[in-house]
Amino acid sequence: MPFGLAAVQRAAEVIRAGGLVAFPTETVYGLGADATNVAAVARIFAAKERPTSHPLIVHLASADQVAGWARHVPAAVQRLADRFWPGPLTIILQRHPSVPDAVTGGQETVGLRVPDHPLALALLGAAGCGVAAPSANRFGRVSPTCAEHVVVELGTRVDVVLDGGPCAVGLESTILDLSTGRPRLLRPGAVSAEAIAGVLGEMPAGRTDQSPRVPGALAAHYAPDTPVQLVDGPRIEALAEALVQAGRTVAVLARRPRSADAPPCTWLAMPDDPGRYGHDLYARLRELDALGCDRLLIQAPPADSAWAAVQDRLRRATGAG
Ligand code: TXA
Ligand code: MG
Repeated sequence: MPFGLAAVQRAAEVIRAGGLVAFPTETVYGLGADATNVAAVARIFAAKERPTSHPLIVHLASADQVAGWARHVPAAVQRLADRFWPGPLTIILQRHPSVPDAVTGGQETVGLRVPDHPLALALLGAAGCGVAAPSANRFGRVSPTCAEHVVVELGTRVDVVLDGGPCAVGLESTILDLSTGRPRLLRPGAVSAEAIAGVLGEMPAGRTDQSPRVPGALAAHYAPDTPVQLVDGPRIEALAEALVQAGRTVAVLARRPRSADAPPCTWLAMPDDPGRYGHDLYARLRELDALGCDRLLIQAPPADSAWAAVQDRLRRATGAG
């Protein structure tokens, strides 16, 4: 059977019975529960140790279901869905009155997304309900991009882990707020601001202080335990050298191979392409974090907009939000 259909059916039963299922999406693994079951949603927050005021994204099997979750569906939603769903775009809308406070963190808005992964879509179809799912990591930590990461993060706190292999995108979805008169990009991701502008006919604005709460926007979110520092490419060797001289252990995540004058340290060379870099980033951060070095030096990403999602996650990894 493709994708272990029996496993998907069992997982869907667990969701319907109020349990927790970790499942792959194209972005990162999600920790899912029936979004209409308040007790099940509460279990997500407990498993993640996440403050309950932080809203969850509701995952849907198709764009047809949006009307059941939003009080008002702007015309732009259909155009965005036609272009980007299934895919790595979360749209924030004014919530339907039936959406539980547990999902929205008490806010008047709800985040909705149709993920682009065959296992996720099969699970959503079989469960027959919206599935609330944050990334399947403990609060504040790096998102899991393969099933093994989920097990490390959540172990027995989750009832089922569906293994769909490594995630194709590797960074969390783009979040677009359409709940007010002005489209706003709350979190950059694989669907770029430019691509959204191509559909909306206007560039989305940035976040404001009034924008809905996004814990992903907190400093020290998506953070490894090792202190992280972003460093311009040419300075890496000299800074690593100074740290090593001072008796520190150092790991480096760069976009080029180690040069001859690098001191003894762990050096990982990343792809120099934003999509492939994003795909690898969280797995590499986990690997380097596990070494328990005193410092992790990360080569600062290029400034251009193709790197927006990577820039955002690396800033957060340093705690600089
Ligand atoms: O790619 C993704 O978005 C993954 C996969 C599993 O779909 N999910 C994910 O969920 O990253 P989470 O909870 O780790 O991050 C979702 C972000 C949070 O920062 C949350 O605050 C924001 O979405 N969010 C959810 N509902 C919201 C709402 N109503 N208003 C503003 N932000 C919202
Ligand atoms: Mg998360």
